[in-house]
Amino acid sequence: LHVAVLMGGWANERPVSLMSGEGVAKALEARGHTVTRIDMDRQVAARIAEAKPDIVFNALHGVPGEDGTVQGMLDLMGVPYTHSGLATSVIAIDKQLTKQALVPRGIPMPGGRIVRTDDLYEGDPLPRPYVLKPVNEGSSVGVAIVTDESNYGNPIARDAKGPWQEFPELLAEPYIRGRELTTAVVGGKALGVTELIVESGFYDFENKYTDGRTRHVCPAEIPEDIAEACLRYAIEAHRILGCKGTSRTDFRWDDQQGLDGLFVLETNTQPGMTPLSLVPEQAKYCGMSYEDLVETIIADALA
Ligand code: DAL
Ligand code: MG
Repeated sequence: LHVAVLMGGWANERPVSLMSGEGVAKALEARGHTVTRIDMDRQVAARIAEAKPDIVFNALHGVPGEDGTVQGMLDLMGVPYTHSGLATSVIAIDKQLTKQALVPRGIPMPGGRIVRTDDLYEGDPLPRPYVLKPVNEGSSVGVAIVTDESNYGNPIARDAKGPWQEFPELLAEPYIRGRELTTAVVGGKALGVTELIVESGFYDFENKYTDGRTRHVCPAEIPEDIAEACLRYAIEAHRILGCKGTSRTDFRWDDQQGLDGLFVLETNTQPGMTPLSLVPEQAKYCGMSYEDLVETIIADALA
């Protein structure tokens, strides 16, 4: 096959996407496919038209790329592409829209409300501890946990150096104490549960992409009912949202509350494919190499 690997772009997650894209491109070359690497810019439609690939492998993360824009463009061009389609991407990139889609269907997620960043300086939107996050970023870009001890002030000081400052609106959610879990879905099957154990702080951008900062425990050492629930919720979220190829659903689990303490945070439609990413790691645990994973995602898109 001739595969155009679409990566980079101008999202905040550009560096992550370049790592994902390069990994995918090398895997495809190792399997004898012809690869065109395309770093996304405003001329991307013309460049794909010129390359005439059999399929586009979408290795973009964040906005644009994970949000339906690129999916809509490729739909119009009639070029097949990997991962989820337009409507799914529009919903899944938005953490609040995702709640509106999943909670009524029985998926437990933390309650949340959208707040204007300016209003944060007047008073807390929720009792502390709570989490502030942009609705449509990935890799924890812009995420802050506001605790009683947080050095942002109480109320948050206007000049406090917070990661939220470049976002006019944010999602505020109660912070769920306890543990960080994730489940990948590939080829319609949930692969397993991984626990992420950070040395310090939370599973933020640094801890995600600096080797050695986070311990990945796969399979997670958790009770069977929690593991089963993770697999079930990941599959259900994948189906309800209409995901294709692969998705990864992230959880927080308050281990003092049993099953009642398990919450879905979000479903990622363009999960990372970097050396420290979790979908390739779970695939490997299930006996599927990185190359097989890439080929499975492509086969799903062409099916
Ligand atoms: N947003 C990053 C790439 C992930 O979900 O893996
Ligand atoms: Mg995400």
